[in-house]
Amino acid sequence: MDDVDAEMDDGGRIGGGGRKVENEDDGIVHEFDFISCGGRGRRNDYHAEEGDYDADEEGNRPTVLIRELPIANADDPFGRSPIEDTTGLGIWCASVVMSRWMASCDMVRRMRGMSIIELGAGCGAPSITAAVYGRPRSVTISDLNPDTIENARYNIGLNRLDRAYDDDDDGDALDRTFVTATSIDWADESTYPISNGKFDYVICSDCIYQRDIAHLLRRAVAGLLDPDRGTFLYVAPMGGRDGLEEFISEMKSDGGFECIRSEIAPDQYRENPLRSGDEEDFFLHFHELTSNMYVLYEFRRR
Ligand SMILES: C[S@@+](CC[C@H](N)C(=O)[O-])C[C@H]1O[C@@H](n2cnc3c(N)ncnc32)[C@H](O)[C@@H]1O
Repeated sequence: MDDVDAEMDDGGRIGGGGRKVENEDDGIVHEFDFISCGGRGRRNDYHAEEGDYDADEEGNRPTVLIRELPIANADDPFGRSPIEDTTGLGIWCASVVMSRWMASCDMVRRMRGMSIIELGAGCGAPSITAAVYGRPRSVTISDLNPDTIENARYNIGLNRLDRAYDDDDDGDALDRTFVTATSIDWADESTYPISNGKFDYVICSDCIYQRDIAHLLRRAVAGLLDPDRGTFLYVAPMGGRDGLEEFISEMKSDGGFECIRSEIAPDQYRENPLRSGDEEDFFLHFHELTSNMYVLYEFRRR
């Protein structure tokens, strides 16, 4: 646990850059452009192309606004029980990599018309990215800590993904995915939102940092994923996460899943995602992306 604390305090959490608005209720709002590389407008196969997403009236690509808040009780952010875990108030670098993955050409196309749920979503960047650049049928952000869920709802509103209709009362439906946030405890199946059927995609980043979490997360994935065609996507930093090996090997040995991808994220996913392109801000707040490697895992139902 001490190792985990040290590692997480040592820059796992990021902040700053993009359209940076400080002191917005004591948080920072970042503006991300997960399609361009470093704000330089360079595009390549790793990012969705025009036609996959809608540009605004001036032809600008959409961006993603995410507020992060100071992590409460910084010396013990995990608290005495999972509901007290405040780590999700901050953005973790793995979720930036996962957001890049969600904004990739391949994913934007695969997510079209699909239902997605994010587990332990924290600020919700990957979910919001999936809704901003793609056209999934539905996106559900989930977490357990009440303050974290409230912040995720704030981020849904910031990106105007909390309404299905325009503001001007003319009843025009908006051509965008409606995103919701809900409370789920991986350990309690009665909290799983399966009233509308199970999900096509379960996504998650950097949620294993203690050995005893592994089986809980596996249970939640199994309980929420569509039994026929469901896909689970996970992103983790390479090394330094207690319980990650156990989680991956439990998933692999679970007869219900097949691991079809386990590979190091492309370098492009670790490039500066700030709309401003400010390299100093990027290094100041996102420096783990410049030194760490991240692994993309994909499991599907057998
Ligand atoms: C290290 S944070 C990662 C947040 C986000 N995925 C990211 O990468 O920025 C781990 C998240 O898992 C959530 N979590 C921990 N235990 C949980 C549980 N039993 N049920 C639901 N969420 C849980 C925490 O509240 C927190 O938001």
